[in-house]
Amino acid sequence: MLKNKIILLPDHVANQIAAGEVVQRPASVVKELLENAIDAGGKQLKLIIKDGGKTLIQVIDNGDGMNPFDARMCFERHATSKLSSSDDLFTLTTKGFRGEALASIAAIAQVELKTKQQEDLVGQQIIIEGGKLKSQLDCQTPTGTNILVKNLFYNIPARRNFLKTDQIEQKHVIDELERLAIPHNDVHFILQSNGNDLLNLPAGNLMQRIKSIIGSYIQKELVPIGEDTSFIKISGYVSLPSSAVKSKKEQYFFVNNRFVRNPFLNHAIYEAYKELISYQSHPRYFIFFRA
Ligand SMILES: Nc1ncnc2c1ncn2[C@@H]1O[C@H](COP(=O)(O)OP(=O)(O)OP(=O)(O)O)[C@@H](O)[C@H]1O
Ligand SMILES: [Mg+2]
Repeated sequence: MLKNKIILLPDHVANQIAAGEVVQRPASVVKELLENAIDAGGKQLKLIIKDGGKTLIQVIDNGDGMNPFDARMCFERHATSKLSSSDDLFTLTTKGFRGEALASIAAIAQVELKTKQQEDLVGQQIIIEGGKLKSQLDCQTPTGTNILVKNLFYNIPARRNFLKTDQIEQKHVIDELERLAIPHNDVHFILQSNGNDLLNLPAGNLMQRIKSIIGSYIQKELVPIGEDTSFIKISGYVSLPSSAVKSKKEQYFFVNNRFVRNPFLNHAIYEAYKELISYQSHPRYFIFFRA
């Protein structure tokens, strides 16, 4: 009889493969970490990056934190506090639910986590590299979570070489942060890059958030929209035809506060502006759909 050929992949290899789907670039890590911080009820989120996020991505939140058991568990695949049965899939209000993000990130970076819950006297520090636990110790840390992701793709040089310049990667990070900051205007976001303050978005209403991202001038160029039907609520702002711009950057759809791209809806917007704006200029929009 021939030797068996099939083996079960070790967890750290399976996680590295899964990581390919979750993490394409530093901005993907930023999205996952910020979503986790928002889900944990963080109201002040500080994002620190170095070299466009290639060397360091750090997110500090003042959310619920984790107890020592959860701090270790969160790096396991399919480990989530957000879903316990498939029925929950239809009532989710959190950003995450797959329980895959941290396992994937830890498989392809050097990760340090410090976390503490309000009721605990000491926090927990975990160091995990390439999916392998290096240490788990008690530590002093404020309530909330502080996670550092260092040297992304350090163990997959081919993926690391595929990254673009620091400047381009930083641009993707900022785009990702803004897509989360616009719908979560009740959260204070701070971004530091290579030691410099890049963004400071204090909590405020939606218009204040849009102004702090784009500039105060935008207020007089936007008009509010709103429509409530039995199955959907639409709200947000669209730009006056006179303030159409050359760039398509300021075009945002959100479904239940999640940024989405949708060519069909985008086309509908252009149809509405058709007679009102010139060829090759673009409307700005910040439109929220809520079920
Ligand atoms: N900043 C944080 N504060 C508190 N708990 C956290 C934080 N980040 C992660 N967790 C906990 O770790 C778990 C795993 O996180 P992870 O991002 O891997 O999965 P998820 O958010 O449940 O789902 P998804 O893979 O879709 O993001 C979360 O369900 C949550 O309980
Ligand atoms: Mg998550």
